[in-house]
Amino acid sequence: MNILLMGLPGAGKGTQSEQITQDYPVVHIATGDIFRQAIKDETPLGLEAKSYTDNGNLVPDEITNGLVKERLKQDDVKEYGFMLDGYPRTLQQARALSDNLESLDSSIDAVIYIDVDPEVLKERLSGRIICGSCGASYHKIYNPPKVENTCDSCGAHDFYQREDDKPEKVAHRINLQMESIQPILAYYEELGLLHRVSGENSIDQVYSKIQEVLSKL
Ligand code: AP5
Ligand code: MG
Repeated sequence: MNILLMGLPGAGKGTQSEQITQDYPVVHIATGDIFRQAIKDETPLGLEAKSYTDNGNLVPDEITNGLVKERLKQDDVKEYGFMLDGYPRTLQQARALSDNLESLDSSIDAVIYIDVDPEVLKERLSGRIICGSCGASYHKIYNPPKVENTCDSCGAHDFYQREDDKPEKVAHRINLQMESIQPILAYYEELGLLHRVSGENSIDQVYSKIQEVLSKL
């Protein structure tokens, strides 16, 4: 199964990816997570990406495309398929992905777009907290840890707010990506791959809509 999970910042791509990987043995590849890990590890990629991600701007296409191209060649992807989260984010990336997959003799089975109103997104991002130990993501009100201040996944007690979730960065990220996402959606609609799912219901309800799509693949 090869799928793309698309949506504006805060739409629930990471949250739904966690649900999907519990039920399907697909390889979750989130470009944002890869950049954040590289920044934490202070690798050359991280040093290059930091100024873009911290300010809510897109990392240049040539860097992002190269990164995804290398990741898609790996054996786990060949064996289990991929779920790309947050890639492609420009039409140029979408075209580069098509070329890469063609050269790997692979293809996309479905593109799932999680659709959420921008005003709702602002509230979600400003309330998001991340586990400092394992990276699991929560929302202070809508999706808090089961035990207060304790990560459900790893039991750690330290949570932080992402640099790009600070209020002054959130609106910029949403506005920027609202523009760039439209031609990509049109591109996949034209290819007959696009499935729009409302992301404004509960996490479980959104997941059951996604499962409806996945069960038909
Ligand atoms: P990335 O990490 O991908 O950030 P993003 O697109 O801004 O998406 P988020 O991770 O913020 O949101 P999400 O959709 O995963 O939502 P989540 O599930 O956490 O990218 C970061 C940066 O890296 C980019 O800005 C860019 O600089 C760079 N980058 C990445 N990819 C790139 C690319 N392809 N090209 C160039 N640059 C790239 O949910 C959000 C919150 O809402 C959480 O608190 C969650 O608990 C809550 N929530 C989720 N679902 C629900 C629900 N149904 N109801 C209520 N609350 C919910
Ligand atoms: Mg995410």
